[in-house]
Amino acid sequence: MNPNEQIIKVQTQAPSNIAIVKYWGKKGLQLPANPSMSFTLSKALTEMEVSYEPGQHNLKITFLFEGRPQPTFHPKLYSFLEKLQMDYPILNTGQLYISSKNTFPHSSGIASSASSMAALANAIYEILEKMGHVNPDKKNTISRMARLGSGSACRSTSLGWNLWGQTDLINIASDEYAISVNSMINPIFESIHDSILVIRTGAKPVSSTTGHQLMENHPYKEARIKQANENMKRLYDALRNGDFNDFSEVCEEEAMSLHALMMSSRPGYTLLDPSTLEVIRRLKEFRSEQRVPVTFTLDAGPNLHILYPDSHKKAVQLFIMIYLRPFCEDNQVIHDQISFPTLM
Ligand code: DP6
Repeated sequence: MNPNEQIIKVQTQAPSNIAIVKYWGKKGLQLPANPSMSFTLSKALTEMEVSYEPGQHNLKITFLFEGRPQPTFHPKLYSFLEKLQMDYPILNTGQLYISSKNTFPHSSGIASSASSMAALANAIYEILEKMGHVNPDKKNTISRMARLGSGSACRSTSLGWNLWGQTDLINIASDEYAISVNSMINPIFESIHDSILVIRTGAKPVSSTTGHQLMENHPYKEARIKQANENMKRLYDALRNGDFNDFSEVCEEEAMSLHALMMSSRPGYTLLDPSTLEVIRRLKEFRSEQRVPVTFTLDAGPNLHILYPDSHKKAVQLFIMIYLRPFCEDNQVIHDQISFPTLM
């Protein structure tokens, strides 16, 4: 315990990530129904200042987003802290001040829950460390903490390619936290680009949390788990071998399957926009005519993530800016790239 009961203040940041094999469906305490794999982004970050003031009263949280109080986030934050209190009862009491901001626009198709929960896990871990809670397994502990905040956040506590969930491919892979797989990645995937086409902003009609719940009694639940495990193997091989064609096949199958699962849920829904389908059609046409290695993925929303190797950056970005950008809300395109440790 901090002997002087002084306020402990830390500053952290964490990147968002984009999944190639998707986490869709959970079990138990925020454990994934299937393994998933993603890479972190370099421009899309959450920056956070967190202070903890020890005290005798039940834990109180104050949350500011971009300088303004945001009580709508309180239920998610309290539920996250309740989970952490099981392991760290010291967090039962006192006052937590969180001030958060993102380097990317809201509802732009970039997962802000991943970066914000990862930044908060980093901050809380640092605070606990300052209070004397040293953990020999720091990396996995932070990823596990982030997972309790938001599943996909556990893949945002370490830069580059991360795998979350048990799989026969790697024996140290775990449902509890994500592991880095950077050491087995072919160089072409160490600098992969992600241009995000912001087709439509605004609140999603159905949240990811509800989407995960609908997987519990989904008619294709077992088939989905099997497909994700198979796609994980295909992705793992493509990333190791530097095979962009195989990579593209997995990316697109996963993106379309995610949205097909939403449509075939009970009740069904869609987050796609007619423009999403039109830009996919144009992108495929460009790829077959120009023979350029380019592919796409989708998160839980209408905005398209266009993925391509560094070697084809110029051609792809030119095509996007001329032929796809007009489909974006307010012409918004965010050219981002992986945050791979050796690139930073
Ligand atoms: C479609 O991690 O946002 O982005 O665990 O309920 O917070 P919770 O869900 P969340 O789900 C993300 C799902 C996804 C795919 C992925 O990132 O793997």
